[in-house]
Amino acid sequence: MIEDGSSPHPRYITGIGVLALPQLPAGGLPASPVTCLRNVWIELENGAVRRIGPEGESSPAHVKSDECFDAANGLVTPGFVESHTHPVFVLSRQYEFHLRCQGKKYLEIAAEGGGILSSVRGVRGATLPDLTALVRKRFTRFLELGVTTVEAKSGYGLSLKDELNSLKAIRDGAEGLLEVSPTLLAAHTVPPEFKSAPDSYIDLICNEIIPAAAEENLAEAVDIFVEESAFSVAQARRVFEAGSKLGLGIRIHADQFSSSGGASLAAEFGAWSADHMDCTSPDEIDLLAKAGVTIVLLPGAVFFLGLNKFAPARKFIEAGCKVALSTDFNPGTSPTQSLPLMMTLGCNRLKMSPAEALWAVTMGGASALKRQHRIGSLLPGYQADLSLWEAPDIDYLPYAYGDSIPSAVFKKGSLASLKGGLCSGYVMPAD
Ligand code: NIG
Ligand code: FE
Repeated sequence: MIEDGSSPHPRYITGIGVLALPQLPAGGLPASPVTCLRNVWIELENGAVRRIGPEGESSPAHVKSDECFDAANGLVTPGFVESHTHPVFVLSRQYEFHLRCQGKKYLEIAAEGGGILSSVRGVRGATLPDLTALVRKRFTRFLELGVTTVEAKSGYGLSLKDELNSLKAIRDGAEGLLEVSPTLLAAHTVPPEFKSAPDSYIDLICNEIIPAAAEENLAEAVDIFVEESAFSVAQARRVFEAGSKLGLGIRIHADQFSSSGGASLAAEFGAWSADHMDCTSPDEIDLLAKAGVTIVLLPGAVFFLGLNKFAPARKFIEAGCKVALSTDFNPGTSPTQSLPLMMTLGCNRLKMSPAEALWAVTMGGASALKRQHRIGSLLPGYQADLSLWEAPDIDYLPYAYGDSIPSAVFKKGSLASLKGGLCSGYVMPAD
């Protein structure tokens, strides 16, 4: 029982001021992305939504208070689905931020051995228990901030052992806490020992790292950073072929600083997601729409790098793409874990509406993770992953920018976090 007598495993959530129901994609992002019901209750059963009460009825008749959790007239949204994160690193990198404040460029810092490679040194020097503890702390924070499912990439190991360790830290760090979709990003950058032979590193990825990750069931998808400073489209093709052969999904980091052709390749392979996409050309936008690829936009990275070239979100939406918003949480280009803040940037910089931004962090994220029929909404039958916000409507989430924390978060119908803190004794219910 929690302090006000409500249940941590309620049958009913009562007194919902506004219930936000993201709609399934209609090909792309729907024209009316979120239906809002006012003054309703919902019934939960076996960790899923069973029924939604009629509008104007705050509680069903004859229920006992210990069966209920009172939403106190707040806003209830689906648990957020975070579709692009890099949580397996050791140290923060504020010294790079300091350098960038003095005018140094991100790619200059990377070329001098900083950037991704400085995080690689940290991961290679850490033990698996230490990495797991760090990842668990970051996943806990995501849950407290309203994220109930998270995509998480390796990518700071860049060797067979360190990439597999990173994926194990993701698996173990999430256990009993939240749902995770792990991605192998061994192709994040060329490690120093392969500097003069980058194609040999691609051989290692295709012949050893991908097969080992698939064999141990440690990854759902493969990813690669396609950019002049990282890998080419030809190298990405090899990684995608090796991943698809073993049944893994495809993701890509592309068009972050320049247009490279990575978007066309993502369309050709029917990728689960194409991410960043800040510099994608109109022709490639059409190819991605036709191929049904979910576009994961990361405005936090553009903002934090002090750049002005934000992704052409409206063009993607108009072309019929599903669009997700994500933090890109990582120690270099986006050290925030706040999806509400990404909603603000989505509205303010990408010209999305608040409803589109809410869809993008729920159903959009679920689409990028190929889970859109189970999570990302609260329609009857959907998993009871939800957050309660002290907010009068959905516009308030991106409006009250920078410090939004849900007052309660439920995972599969169980109270996981209250007033921004993980509930003691909380364990994610098993399937
Ligand atoms: O998504 N673009 C490549 N990777 C990360 C940055 C990683 C880092 O700087 O550590 C990103 O922005
Ligand atoms: Fe990233």
